Amino acid sequence: MTPNPADSIMECIDQLAKISESPNWLTRKYLTEQHKLANEQVKSWMQGAGMIVHQDAAGNIVGRYEGQTKQLPALMIGSHLDSVVMAGKYDGPLGVLSGIAVVQALYDQGVRLPIAIEVIGFADEEGARFQSTYLGSRAVAGNFDETLLSTLDESGISLRDALMSFGLPPNEIINAARSNRDIFAYIELHIEQGPILEKKNLPVGAVTAISGAQRLKISVNGQAGHAGTVPMKLRVDALVAASECVIGVEKIAMEISGVVGTVGQLITSPGAPNVIPGNVEFTVDLRAEKDRDRDLAFLRIKEKFKFIANKRGVEITFTVTHVAKSIDCDPRLIEVIGSAISELGWSVENLPSGAGHDAAAMASLVPVGMVFLRCKDGISHSPEESISNEDASIGIEVLSEVVRKIADDYSRYNFG
Ligand code: GLV
Ligand code: MN
Ligand code: MN
Repeated sequence: MTPNPADSIMECIDQLAKISESPNWLTRKYLTEQHKLANEQVKSWMQGAGMIVHQDAAGNIVGRYEGQTKQLPALMIGSHLDSVVMAGKYDGPLGVLSGIAVVQALYDQGVRLPIAIEVIGFADEEGARFQSTYLGSRAVAGNFDETLLSTLDESGISLRDALMSFGLPPNEIINAARSNRDIFAYIELHIEQGPILEKKNLPVGAVTAISGAQRLKISVNGQAGHAGTVPMKLRVDALVAASECVIGVEKIAMEISGVVGTVGQLITSPGAPNVIPGNVEFTVDLRAEKDRDRDLAFLRIKEKFKFIANKRGVEITFTVTHVAKSIDCDPRLIEVIGSAISELGWSVENLPSGAGHDAAAMASLVPVGMVFLRCKDGISHSPEESISNEDASIGIEVLSEVVRKIADDYSRYNFG
């Protein structure tokens, strides 16, 4: 890494963004060749910062910087290295690289703390390949769901087979689980992915809570037929029924305050201009800060789909591919992040996260805290995602200060 930590991590993030399944945009899914290459690249940066590095049984890359003695409990810092399709480059890598930058500074100054630090690049947060998110962080938290091993990706490859091809025996994934005696807290720096900090003219904020989320995969079965011969009144068009479902999701999400609902993927079969669609598969992503609001939306959506199925004579089935409850960040960590922000001269903005993060999965293992960094126009999950070098620099300063504060007064934050 070059001397200026922010410039350096921005260069590293650019470099990582080139490791993509597509030459035209960034897509890096779980258990792919690109996942392997990203892990190798991050491993070399971690080693350069004085860390001992290993890839765990779920494919997460983990670097450990020992404290003043060996085997001290560790503060874990990290985020994810996988991406959505056509992603932005900061969503995930920023948290991993800024963790490495914090350790690099300690290593360069020869400083060892009264705690260990582990930096982790989680392997799957987005769920872009198997539609079930947090596969990497849930494995670390000891909550990997083995029933997911038979889940298929778009090409019909099961999670089990993908793990094996990657060189990870599926029955060993349990070994990725960590104990809260070894790790005592988890901190994640992430772009805000929304507009609040930018509106308030602030580079950073402290996250209070992470919204719960649920993903559904819906299949609508109608009757394929000739586009020229089947009269309109006799059609059982799966796409028209699915379209009503999509509008229904929007309406229900708008009716229940605090709920957001998205249909982000829709596949029509057989998918020809002169064939009435016989089958449609689509996804629903539902989120809310309060789990009971999301549960209510889910209930209404199920009722709505049943109504549409009866009305249009189609069959509608669904599977829940992912559920994550909303979680609160630890009040002590919110406070320490807030005091680091204010000591660096910024006013403290506490804000919830509508997006999911590895911190939500880690919260079942240890107390979690998150720092949000302003991003341009609040845009994320898009190649237009952008942050400034100045903000990255402030983010690293805040993270360093948070680590220093936790290490200085370790007993106060000794949650194990
Ligand atoms: C992850 O970024 C999510 O919130 O979908
Ligand atoms: Mn993310
Ligand atoms: Mn994301």
